[in-house]
Amino acid sequence: MTPVSISAAEAIPGLITLPWHISLEAWPDELITALPKGISRHVVRFTTIDGTVVAVKETTPELARSEFDLLKQLVKANIPCVEPLAVVTSRSDSAGESLPAALITKHLKFSIPFRALYSTTLRPETLRRLIDALALLLVRLHNYGFFWGDVSLSNTLFVRDAGAFAAYLVDAETGRLYPSLTDGQRAHDLEIARVNIAGELMDLQAGSRMDESIDPVMISDRILAAYESLWHALNDPEVLAQHELWKIHERVQHLNDLGFDIEELDITTDESGTTVRIQPKVVDAGHHARRLLRLTGLDTEENQARRLLNDLDEYRARVSPTHLDEEVVAHMWLTQVFEPVVTSIPERLERKLEDAEVFHQVLEHRWYMSEREKRDVTLEEAVRNYIETVLVNRRDEELLINPPTGAITAANRLPTKRQARKRSSSSKKSMSFGIDDEEPPPRDADEPEVDWRDLV
Ligand SMILES: Nc1ncnc2c1ncn2[C@@H]1O[C@H](COP(=O)(O)OP(=O)(O)OP(=O)(O)O)[C@@H](O)[C@H]1O
Ligand SMILES: [Mg+2]
Repeated sequence: MTPVSISAAEAIPGLITLPWHISLEAWPDELITALPKGISRHVVRFTTIDGTVVAVKETTPELARSEFDLLKQLVKANIPCVEPLAVVTSRSDSAGESLPAALITKHLKFSIPFRALYSTTLRPETLRRLIDALALLLVRLHNYGFFWGDVSLSNTLFVRDAGAFAAYLVDAETGRLYPSLTDGQRAHDLEIARVNIAGELMDLQAGSRMDESIDPVMISDRILAAYESLWHALNDPEVLAQHELWKIHERVQHLNDLGFDIEELDITTDESGTTVRIQPKVVDAGHHARRLLRLTGLDTEENQARRLLNDLDEYRARVSPTHLDEEVVAHMWLTQVFEPVVTSIPERLERKLEDAEVFHQVLEHRWYMSEREKRDVTLEEAVRNYIETVLVNRRDEELLINPPTGAITAANRLPTKRQARKRSSSSKKSMSFGIDDEEPPPRDADEPEVDWRDLV
């Protein structure tokens, strides 16, 4: 083994055993976990270390180090991005020739690269949701003082979020962190976003992989509008007359509704005392996700959290005597509603979607069934029907594999969610609706497989 220097964020013994003396491009197939990824200038490949799928990117030692440090700071600030694991430097091959450094990040589970989304044809509605998610991510980054420098759909990973998408930053190579950004820096980043997005969409259009009704320039302009309205809602001061002080509460509520929490609210009065100026200092998005985490321990995306909290509120209104604490009711809801749904998912279908997304889809499904059948459909009926008619037809997204069959091998099979759950709690399984876990009958050769991408 040739010498190598590894600087890791956590102890990962398997890291040392990877063939760092071979250029990444030439790593043996059995080490490579084949997963789709965005277009990149550097060599990026996935491998599995100690049961965790990681992305390895070859780059210069300086860039690997600075990207590692930036990602670490973003993770600490709770901003959605890939999690950095290690930087490997001082690599050389067996002939003593030096090799590039490597940055290792954790593969973001259930993430969908932009390229996988348009493998068929990208629809306008999907695109709108992607742009909105990217605008929110950019506002969060800018609010934290992060200048991205290479905003694009390909440098973003998307995760399902209750009918919308949540965007995660994947490429921080060009990023810089400042105490705060000037308006000029923000405008510069937005212009980069607009130009990159327009370019990415024109490429798709040239390959006829985008709905014909989409105008790349108009859609790329959308990021400006989505960003600006959010930025102003968060950061603009507001001047109120003395008799309008109730509007302070309204402003806080509006920011919470947008998913942001407030750290401080500066309130200043003018000399005559007739007007009041309020300036919120926004901490970060994740208002609902944090509340759900506090109440139930469930860690979800923001829209999923909204959805689950609504269901929790409905549950409270329906079953709970008013004197019970919110925490107690939340625990009842978790064990009597949420867990029975997710533990009812047969093991063979568990890699399709995240638990919170499954729960959201079951609620939607129940609503549609009730509408169709003009009666109250029970949760148990809805779960059963959802599994049989929807979930079985979706592809696995935990590790989105593309193409779906054939040549692809994951080096080590990862534990399923159920196995992980069983490890962490043996009591939950008994709470499921008892839907059986039989393999489905084989699909007829002429029976078309429904592609999840058509359902996005
Ligand atoms: N941790 C990760 N989880 C999932 N996918 C990842 C991860 N890291 C990288 N990827 C995939 O690899 C692709 C390329 O990574 P990245 O953008 O960092 O490379 P790059 O060479 O720096 O790109 P660019 O050409 O924009 O400079 C990403 O678009 C993404 O699809
Ligand atoms: Mg990139």
